[in-house]
Amino acid sequence: MTREDYLVFGAPQITDADVDEVVDCLRSRWLGTGPRVARFEEDFAAYKRVDSTRVAALNSCTAALHVSMIAAGLAPGDEVITTALTFCATVNAIIHSGATPVLADIDPGTMNIDPSSIENAITDKTRAIVPVHFAGRPCDMTAICDIANRYNLRIIEDCAHAIESEYHGSKIGTFGDFGCFSFYVTKNVATGEGGMVVAKDVDAIQRIKVLSLHGMSKDAWHRFSDTGYKHYLVTEAGFKYNMMDIQAALGIHQLSRIEENWARRQQIWSRYQAAFEALPLVLPAAPEPGTRHAYHLYTILIESQDFGMSRDDFVAAMHNHNIGTGVHYLSIAEHPYYQQTFGWHPGDYPNAASIGRRTASLPLSPALSDDDVTDVIEAVLDVYSRGF
Ligand SMILES: Cc1ncc(COP(=O)(O)O)c(C=O)c1O
Repeated sequence: MTREDYLVFGAPQITDADVDEVVDCLRSRWLGTGPRVARFEEDFAAYKRVDSTRVAALNSCTAALHVSMIAAGLAPGDEVITTALTFCATVNAIIHSGATPVLADIDPGTMNIDPSSIENAITDKTRAIVPVHFAGRPCDMTAICDIANRYNLRIIEDCAHAIESEYHGSKIGTFGDFGCFSFYVTKNVATGEGGMVVAKDVDAIQRIKVLSLHGMSKDAWHRFSDTGYKHYLVTEAGFKYNMMDIQAALGIHQLSRIEENWARRQQIWSRYQAAFEALPLVLPAAPEPGTRHAYHLYTILIESQDFGMSRDDFVAAMHNHNIGTGVHYLSIAEHPYYQQTFGWHPGDYPNAASIGRRTASLPLSPALSDDDVTDVIEAVLDVYSRGF
């Protein structure tokens, strides 16, 4: 049976605590970067077990990636290696930093960047690696850090899916020179739009704070606080990437529920694994020993010959059952801009291309009720048994 209302993919969980904090923020009339951003930074730093001088809240992960790459010293002519299976923002941030993106293929089992493919892509112009912890599954950071050490490369981790992820006891985002997080609506902590940088180096965070507010030497909080007016001086041409207190108001309470929500998504994930075990689908691999998966995306692979329909037909059939799904992602080399600009072809990254053409993501928000999860499961079973 088709459910009555549409199950929107990735709709966040918003509680009364979130709503009340946003209302309090509005009533305080301090909407811009202020005390709530400072608290969110402190809470996030504590969650990542780093000092709060090593984090900066920004208005997106894209912004976080961009300013991290500038702070990493990337410049035109430099090459930066990233995965062929990611969101376009990863690659665009490299382009906007002035460097040239170079793709590496993925491991088809983990869907993460393949260290041997990284090594094959290294030239004398390579300066950095941008691993993406896909779906919340940590990349092979032992191999990646080893490559970075041997070739003297910077690491900028794209942790958009990976707030809760850990790798052999350490938090993801703390291996590289920079770790960049997203609080976009569908993410595990949702502030509408929002991002965070965790840096190894305190000076890099100072530079990022300046870069993310027009290049001004003092931020608006200091300029307009009750300590009196202070002149600001522009020390470089920066961007407008600061987080607002309204966003942080959501983040503070979302972050306080992060472990509860992780456990809820793990439960939903396990229900899916059990329900689809007998179907001719490729289900996500179990987390690697010694790692913690963030369970951000539950992705299945649909092979037309086995399942009786293509991935695109599956997505359309789920839509007809009033279930929203996602595609993460068409591989980067499928997009015309990159083909025209860099001459990339999907076939050059065969694992990413193959996954990108077969993958579909099922709803995994902690806001899903048990009945919602049952609806998703029944829709998948019905789509399979009846065909498109
Ligand atoms: C892997 C990856 N990188 C970067 C981003 C960009 O994040 P934001 O929307 O916060 O800029 C996303 C967002 O969807 C993502 O999934």
